[in-house]
Amino acid sequence: MVAYKSKMVESISLPPRDRRERNLEAAGYNVFNLDADEVFIDLLTDSGTGAMSDSQWAALIRGDEAYAGSRGFDRLESAVEDVMGFSHVIPAHQGRGAENVLYGTVLSEGDVVPNNTHFDTTRAHVANQGAEPVDCPVDRAFDPDASDPFKGNFSLERAREVVDDVGPERVPLVIQTITNNSAAGQPVSVENTRRVREFADEIDATFVVDACRFAENAAFVRRREEEFADREIDEIAREQLGHADAVVMSGKKDGLVNAGGFVATDDADLYERCKQRAILYEGFPTYGGMAGRDVAALAVGLREAVEEAYVTDRIDRVAAFGEMLADVGVPIYGPTGGHAVYLDAGSALSHLPAEAFPGQAFVCELYREGGVRGVELGSFAFPETDRPELVRLAVPRRTYSREHFEHVAETAATVLEKREEVVGFEIAAEPEIPELRHFTAGLEPL
Ligand code: F0G
Repeated sequence: MVAYKSKMVESISLPPRDRRERNLEAAGYNVFNLDADEVFIDLLTDSGTGAMSDSQWAALIRGDEAYAGSRGFDRLESAVEDVMGFSHVIPAHQGRGAENVLYGTVLSEGDVVPNNTHFDTTRAHVANQGAEPVDCPVDRAFDPDASDPFKGNFSLERAREVVDDVGPERVPLVIQTITNNSAAGQPVSVENTRRVREFADEIDATFVVDACRFAENAAFVRRREEEFADREIDEIAREQLGHADAVVMSGKKDGLVNAGGFVATDDADLYERCKQRAILYEGFPTYGGMAGRDVAALAVGLREAVEEAYVTDRIDRVAAFGEMLADVGVPIYGPTGGHAVYLDAGSALSHLPAEAFPGQAFVCELYREGGVRGVELGSFAFPETDRPELVRLAVPRRTYSREHFEHVAETAATVLEKREEVVGFEIAAEPEIPELRHFTAGLEPL
């Protein structure tokens, strides 16, 4: 059931086809290079692209800009305590800033870090400390057809293999990402979080939850984990997050704001250590790189994210979008995750081998046919891995309605109808850092 209505709107339009063709070519067939005004439905990310509520806008106007000890920070501290259960908060300009603060504090050269699946910036921040990020997804995490309820879970078997291999003293940190963005936004069960806590205790490691999408995860837990069927969303969130020593958060996801993030913990010593690094990289620890007004809006957004009506509508809306695509015959990764629908481009464009980037070809066709922007998360984004050729259509929060999703489904159906004509790509110009190539590389049609 929808729990909000529009109070302010932004015009969008579908540029004519010949302009879309020209835009694609000028962008080097990389949709990161498109002007957003030339995009009709923008599903590039769910990060910072959602709509704020009138309560958040009110908070924004009332937010104060004190360098130290702002009123907005007090509100953020109370919101984090009430919603997530942590007493200490260190704000940061966004999630990756929080990652730098926390991972830079606890990691050293030569460490090894297991995570159910590292998100790009997490992997990069772990590596930036000279540590080695190791993914420990469950067996069927990348099987688009497996129907397990918690395909985002952390594999304790894999993590134990890592520890057996390198020794527990080299594993000072264990991360669990909820929901698991890099594994199709799949949820993680509370039971799995409990087991990871035990594992971290066994090896005397710090346990961090990447909580970017903690509220969406809690909504899945309530539906799929029997023990929680009658519990409130915020109770579930506190139970799950309460097993962690600290959380890293991007406010741009389940904080329902356009900017901001934080580290939160109950550990006074860890808090003090992180605070020093935060001053160096982010700002004084009552604003951490955010404008005071953004801190105030985040305090309100965190509370709204765990409202039952909001968050169940959120995951239902994404699931309905997935069904629309499946109904017109588009192969999608199932079950649908929390923040995006993932298309299986390898299966949709089975005539294109991985080297011809079928995911990128599908992304370009979605723009050419309907002005829709998604993102490739297959061989182009992750060279030299054996991930499936997925395309992510991320859903900004409280932004698009059913008609928009219908347009996307119709567009994808048109691409499928013309699949034989769809050509692959080769890379024409590549940046130096291979992990980040999909953001800036130029392509040419084959
Ligand atoms: N962790 C996860 C799981 C994320 O999905 C992201 C961002 C971050 C950390 C970093 O947060 O962007 O605020 O610095 N994900 C976005 C995405 C960018 O499109 O999936 P940030």
